[in-house]
Amino acid sequence: MHLQLPSSLKGMTKLDRDQFTQVVTVPFVNVPVECIQTAKWKNALLTLHLFKNVRDLDPTSKTHKQVLFDPDVIKSKEDVINAVPSITKYAEESFDFTPITLTYANYSIEQVIKAILPDDLGKDKPINTGSGYSLIGHIAHFNLKDAVLPYKHIIAQVVLDKLSNVKTVVNKLHEIDSVYRNFELEIIAGEPNTIVKCRESKATFQFDFAKVYWNPRLSTERERIVNILHRDDFIFDVFAGVGPFVVPAAMLGCTVYGNDINPESVKWMTVNLKANHSKKSRNEYHVFNLDGREFLRTIAFPRIESYQQEVKGDDEKKWCLSSNKIVILMNLPDIALTFLDVVSEWLSSSIDGSEQWILPVHIHCYTFSKADNREEDIRTRLKSILPNVNDNQITCRFVRQVAPNKDMMCVRIVLFDNKKNEEENPTKRFKQDSSE
Ligand SMILES: C[S@@+](CC[C@H](N)C(=O)[O-])C[C@H]1O[C@@H](n2cnc3c(N)ncnc32)[C@H](O)[C@@H]1O
Repeated sequence: MHLQLPSSLKGMTKLDRDQFTQVVTVPFVNVPVECIQTAKWKNALLTLHLFKNVRDLDPTSKTHKQVLFDPDVIKSKEDVINAVPSITKYAEESFDFTPITLTYANYSIEQVIKAILPDDLGKDKPINTGSGYSLIGHIAHFNLKDAVLPYKHIIAQVVLDKLSNVKTVVNKLHEIDSVYRNFELEIIAGEPNTIVKCRESKATFQFDFAKVYWNPRLSTERERIVNILHRDDFIFDVFAGVGPFVVPAAMLGCTVYGNDINPESVKWMTVNLKANHSKKSRNEYHVFNLDGREFLRTIAFPRIESYQQEVKGDDEKKWCLSSNKIVILMNLPDIALTFLDVVSEWLSSSIDGSEQWILPVHIHCYTFSKADNREEDIRTRLKSILPNVNDNQITCRFVRQVAPNKDMMCVRIVLFDNKKNEEENPTKRFKQDSSE
């Protein structure tokens, strides 16, 4: 139903819930209880937030209920008969109009905010006058545009009222530009608590949203990567944050190495690895607080070399036949490609006899591109950083659009692969957003 809310609500900056109460007139038919389940109502029923469209006729009638219709769809008895022919008899007998009282509770978040914001502030997308909001545990996270800021407290209050799991509403103050990739936040309503608990990839995560990076819009991408991991793979996450890749990987039975330059991320990554790690699992996890280059040089490459030796000495045939691999993850799209110079260094200097290595190394490195031909742009940039890798070792994949002309892409670089590895799924496009 298209609701016309009172125009007196426009510009309200302090929430007065009573002002949302209004009486509207809607069509109804009294229908025997047994017909209600079987009738095909199509889109004819009145659908409003927290509003019952089938209600008791009166306390004495046990045989009939009153069915309320959407006045935008049903304007006459004939409309009911056309839309729901099975209740023709009852429409003939009882079709009429009745007043109903709608209150603040009956409007969705979007309807309330649209009613409050002046018309020139995003008629079509009232709360997207920022870039929408995300839910992270008990936090609703807004990115409000300047023009909407005078209404930030009322918007936040509406969200607190309507979403019972939301206890804190925050607004992002600036674009992310810190090394740690966390947002500067302002708490605009609710409890001043930014330590959240949430779930992703069957794991639970806890972290201080004000101090670390977490983007729920990347959950599909992270799950996609987790889905191509196998038990006994070795995972090196260079920019691991609070562990959204390494935690589910460890749960799968991979040996994981998570690194981040932000001590706060490392603290929570450790908490999350511990909390999700089963005592029975025999795989190991390791956490580091190093610059990505140092992690690659001093931790990842020496361990990769020693794993190659170990699996040779182990049951070589078993490993040769398996689809196991070493995975290096690099999710810091602004600059991750530039860290590949250490891979180039490693490839050219320190690898003897690598043609006999058993475990392939797959690097998944994220980057942004604004070029017309994203893939060509990335391959050109890679050539200067990784001259010792062939074109056919590289695949590029679209991840999501982060701004009107800016895509996040994932580059996969496959090293030492003597076996046929599973193909990645074809490109999947995701909704545009501008949260990074
Ligand atoms: C975009 S976030 C990704 C975090 C995590 N992988 C995820 O998907 O949520 C990038 C992470 O890299 C870390 N970082 C930034 N510069 C770094 C560096 N030079 N070395 C290691 N980590 C770095 C940041 O602290 C941040 O946690």
